[in-house]
Amino acid sequence: MQRVPDIDLDRLRRWPDVEAPNLFAVDASDRLILDEASDTVASAPPGSVVVINDHYGALAIGAAAHLGATAVRVFQDALVGEAALSANARGVTTEVRNLPLGRELLLGATVVLLQVPRSLAELDEIAGEIVRWADPGVVVFAGGRIKHLSLTMNAVLTKHFGRLDVSLARQKSRVLIVREPLAATSESSVLQFPVREYHDELGLWVCAHGAVFAGAKLDLGTRLLVSVLDGVRADAVTAIDLGSGTGILAATLARSRPTLAVIATDQSAAAVASSLATMQANGLSDRVTVVRDDGLRSQPDASADLIVLNPPFHVGATVHTGLADRLFRDAARVLRPGGELWTVYNSHLAYRPTLESVIGSTREVVRNTKFTVTSSRRRVPAALPTSASDPDSRGER
Ligand SMILES: C[S@@+](CC[C@H](N)C(=O)[O-])C[C@H]1O[C@@H](n2cnc3c(N)ncnc32)[C@H](O)[C@@H]1O
Repeated sequence: MQRVPDIDLDRLRRWPDVEAPNLFAVDASDRLILDEASDTVASAPPGSVVVINDHYGALAIGAAAHLGATAVRVFQDALVGEAALSANARGVTTEVRNLPLGRELLLGATVVLLQVPRSLAELDEIAGEIVRWADPGVVVFAGGRIKHLSLTMNAVLTKHFGRLDVSLARQKSRVLIVREPLAATSESSVLQFPVREYHDELGLWVCAHGAVFAGAKLDLGTRLLVSVLDGVRADAVTAIDLGSGTGILAATLARSRPTLAVIATDQSAAAVASSLATMQANGLSDRVTVVRDDGLRSQPDASADLIVLNPPFHVGATVHTGLADRLFRDAARVLRPGGELWTVYNSHLAYRPTLESVIGSTREVVRNTKFTVTSSRRRVPAALPTSASDPDSRGER
């Protein structure tokens, strides 16, 4: 087992994702996956190494720049992960490219390096796709921090693969090495994604790929926000569901207000695919535009009357409010003066002062034991001097 030099990976950054002293671009599990896979990667046929769920590029850059893999195909659910990989690879390697989870990514793959996702459904979907498209001799190096690994994950993997070996632990990390894909499981005995569920209380089908927040279920915070959406400004013409997940908020708005133009936007590939499927399942595809974007980067200034947001408060595995703050700032830029941001959050999070200062006057709409919904009104920017107040025009110089 060749050891991958630490120094080269240490220079990787999370940018443009949130950076903070307690948030890291590379962890011990990245290094262990690369070390365990090093001989297999080094002897893999050209173009047959695939990386899935790389956080910020450590696995892809490690495989290409340190282990000599060529034409490395990469899937990252998070758009910021893609951007970080691209920034980190600049000047280091040109042998990595991003593709959606599916045929083009995995066809003929002989080695897959995988950061084990925390969601079992996501692991299930990924394993199913590997079995469906990869070379029958594929070896998967699936690693993670021990605190995030569980025996249930082994059970998910052995539903799809005939053999599972476990590496020795190192720096609180482990790698599950799986091989012998079970062709039969690609058909009937595994879930077909997106899964879908009809919710009577919403009157909606909800569709979910494995990695999406809450799966096809209705999150309790989302439910509270849905319960008060009747109260959003009646004259809104354009609305954005920021961080749309399965698209429940966008679909609810579009259905209840036939003249509203709705955008559902999320940085997660699984969320975007799920939102698209939800709109299609409910006959709302022509009412809701679904976009993959980091925050609201692609939305023009002062272009929306209404934004609804159930913000993430985890950055990866770490609780961190930096991301919500960034989404609030995006909302402030994109809302028209007088436009509204409706937000739901865990009541223990002290978001209200931030909302007051970043967006404008904020009122509590409803609160239960766990969640709070607020409505913030975009303040009208300070008026430019008018002829009446402009000292020049009054001859007071
Ligand atoms: C708490 S979930 C809410 C999902 C959905 N709105 C709901 O209520 O069920 C937060 C969503 O924000 C998305 N998200 C996280 N970071 C983001 C970013 N930088 N830009 C856009 N969306 C982001 C996540 O992918 C996730 O779908």
